[in-house]
Amino acid sequence: SKTAFIFDLDGVIVDTAKYHYLAWKKLANELGFEFTKEQNELFKGVSRKRCLAILLDIGGIEATQEDFDRWMREKNEDYLSYIEDMDTSEILPDVLKVLNYLKDKKAFLALGSASKNAKPILEKVKLLPYFDAIVDGTDVAKAKPDPEVFLIAAHKVDTKPENCVVFEDAVAGIQAANKAGMTSIGIGDAKTLSEADFVFKDFTEISTEFLERLTKAR
Ligand code: G6P
Ligand code: MG
Repeated sequence: SKTAFIFDLDGVIVDTAKYHYLAWKKLANELGFEFTKEQNELFKGVSRKRCLAILLDIGGIEATQEDFDRWMREKNEDYLSYIEDMDTSEILPDVLKVLNYLKDKKAFLALGSASKNAKPILEKVKLLPYFDAIVDGTDVAKAKPDPEVFLIAAHKVDTKPENCVVFEDAVAGIQAANKAGMTSIGIGDAKTLSEADFVFKDFTEISTEFLERLTKAR
């Protein structure tokens, strides 16, 4: 079957990882504790609910269901205010070049994100038309590192997992891709993403020869 390329959204296609971080940090600070960039690595690819549970754990805070729901809402409202004016300038370097190259090669393109805000973000940066399938936080029950999100994406484009290539910036996302039996490509720090089959600092480091090789049937 044809090769499918599955892209994570936050931190791979757009630089929203920093806005997620700012929103969690704001909440932590309001609750009276610090939240560092290192701690934020564990939040990448992880659902909003799970992130809040980890955050409260870090702060040693016990929450009633009501608190929990309110803080979930507050975090998302802050996040939405940060991304409100987002436009095509927030697409990460050479992402468009790679998407266009793969489209040209007639590969399937899918999105595999844990975010419930994925579709509006793709709309803001005008990338919605590129994707043959979109699987986001509104579609999945089990969050990364569970492979569900990527397996649904593969199913939607009718491609076998072994013919799928996943681009991910999160440790949990690389683990999910590996568990799905897909080729995993880390975008970011090689040490952090050491479980990936390949790691690149960003898309500017990925050659067309490399992409070409990936499009060939395995
Ligand atoms: C992505 C991000 C996570 C975020 C999750 C849920 O996977 O990497 O940091 O927590 O999406 O995003 P949401 O927009 O639904 O709060
Ligand atoms: Mg990500």
